[in-house]
Amino acid sequence: MDYSLLWLDWRPKKRLPAYTRCVCGLPATRQGKAALRELISGLQAMGAAPEIRRSPSTGIPAVTLMERPGSDEQVSLRRSGDGIEIAGTGRGLIYGVFHFLRRLSMGEEFPEWTSAPAYAIRMLDHWDNADGSIERGYAGQSFFFRNGKPVCTERTRDYARLMASCGLNGCCINNVNVRGNARKLLTGSYQRELRRIALCFAEYGVSLWLSVSFSAPLELGGLDTADPLDEGVRQWWKETCLRLFTSIPNLAGFLVKADSEGRPGPHSYGRSQAEGANMLADAVRPYGGKILWRCFVYNCTQDWRDTKTDRARAQCDHFAPLDGQFRENVYLQLKNGPVDFQVREPVSPLLGHLERTASLMEFQIAQEYTGQQRHVCYLIPMFREILDFRFHSRPEKDRVSERISAVCAVSNTGDDGNWTGHDLAAANWFGFGLISWNPAADPAEIAREWSILTFGDDPAVTETVTDILLRSREVYEKYTSPLGIGWMCVPGTHYGPSPEGYEFDRWGTYLRANHREIGVERGPEGTGFTEQYSPPLAAMYRDIAACPEELLLFFHRLPYDYRMKDGRTLLQRIYDDHFAGYEEAAAMADAWDKLEGRLDGEVFRRVQERFRMQVRSAAEWRDVVNTWLYRLTMQPDEKGRRIYP
Ligand code: GCU
Repeated sequence: MDYSLLWLDWRPKKRLPAYTRCVCGLPATRQGKAALRELISGLQAMGAAPEIRRSPSTGIPAVTLMERPGSDEQVSLRRSGDGIEIAGTGRGLIYGVFHFLRRLSMGEEFPEWTSAPAYAIRMLDHWDNADGSIERGYAGQSFFFRNGKPVCTERTRDYARLMASCGLNGCCINNVNVRGNARKLLTGSYQRELRRIALCFAEYGVSLWLSVSFSAPLELGGLDTADPLDEGVRQWWKETCLRLFTSIPNLAGFLVKADSEGRPGPHSYGRSQAEGANMLADAVRPYGGKILWRCFVYNCTQDWRDTKTDRARAQCDHFAPLDGQFRENVYLQLKNGPVDFQVREPVSPLLGHLERTASLMEFQIAQEYTGQQRHVCYLIPMFREILDFRFHSRPEKDRVSERISAVCAVSNTGDDGNWTGHDLAAANWFGFGLISWNPAADPAEIAREWSILTFGDDPAVTETVTDILLRSREVYEKYTSPLGIGWMCVPGTHYGPSPEGYEFDRWGTYLRANHREIGVERGPEGTGFTEQYSPPLAAMYRDIAACPEELLLFFHRLPYDYRMKDGRTLLQRIYDDHFAGYEEAAAMADAWDKLEGRLDGEVFRRVQERFRMQVRSAAEWRDVVNTWLYRLTMQPDEKGRRIYP
């Protein structure tokens, strides 16, 4: 084993409950058997040497696995005499066993739990390309593809275990931008490899998904159109699905990025997004398949002189009118914000308009705009905020967590030894799993649990790591882009500061700063984006005084001398945040330094190295953003600090 087990590295315990001396159960399914194996090996790693019995005997305390028939994911852990009984279907047992081992590691003697996941689809989307590269990948190369082909290795199995151990049950192995050899995943060429991956996943209850290109009938089928209403096209997809779904067990469906950033889609044929999605939905339906249809449709080459177009409006403009027109096996997949995974955005208003359409919320744990796994940025508190957000449009089921039908996150993994490049980034993977099982889970508790499972239970380590994680997003936000405005990063790479980079880029997403004002007005006198929310929210966002300050520059164009609630000018607030963000990043790095000797030396040094990069980068962000604003406005910092490098 040349890579990390992450949170599954069970450690020997000084004391174990008596019932760990015996394990009972005779599961029949592959998943139930995997659960039993995990239970035995987990207990052994913790220092128990359990006797293995087929059925319970009175008087001998034991951990008993009770497998029920069926395929649901419910599970219960309860005390039974002096032992523990874990009951569920094969899939339920997997979750139950991992939960049990985690609680035991955390020192709980009799963990009781009756639970079912909030969503039936809880998945990771990998942006892995067939050539082994990963779009927005910050942890090495793909472990799903090598030399242009999908591969199934020991790591595939370890990945499936990690997924199941935090409650995740789906994986789309290839990039939404389907290029090169990835197109051939739909042909017979790689069926054997895909089948092996699918079987390996199935053991841990993880379904396989594939990203497909809408123009596959042109690219692969030799047809001269991909028009979703063309009979030949419909037939081509049906035949393709028949071959794929009958040869690959556990294939759950397709993920589609259409009419987005140059990808082909139904708009090219004058057809609607619903017509496109429904055509594919009909093709996968005989196999219980689903279509995850992305809503990332916007004009990505907006002319800077065009002040009417607003990227934030695009999702709603395109999809809200189509509510109710999609087949029931289509899920609209929308990013959590209306723009693109910035460190702070309001919640996408589209969800407030979908009454008769299933939806899937897309988060991103790959830290594309949040430090690229070189900076620490624990995203679970942000996900929790989003899931808790209320639309104020109906009396019940008004929260994001209640309106969505499924969740996914763009993955942060690669073939690096520690899976996620930055060791602390693995908390986002683990945390995303736990919060997608239970959207009311506490991000602080998750951080603490992750730290103990990963680094052991030294209280100094747990306290420092938890504290760093919980502060990290606000720290990152302060030294990068202020008050929800986003987009001050280097175009293309999205790493490091370039406040006007996107101002002069073909993919312009504009800040429109001049010497007096900054931002795009999104109220009714501006682009009207605020009016896409329900009346109470629209009223709040359009009113500068009522708009939450952390989103002020997302919604409004303001002069630099605008007074914030605490009396500071907008400009001074931005200067202050950038100075403070840098100081806080440096303080996190110092806190980490104090852990030397308390955890594995290699991990310690790796994270220390990342913190050094983060602090250097935070200084650069502070200096570039502050200097840029100083030169635009010629207004000095009130505290007289040096604001140019
Ligand atoms: C972002 C990202 C792209 C990605 C796109 C998407 O724009 O930078 O790499 O393809 O999102 O989500 O489709």
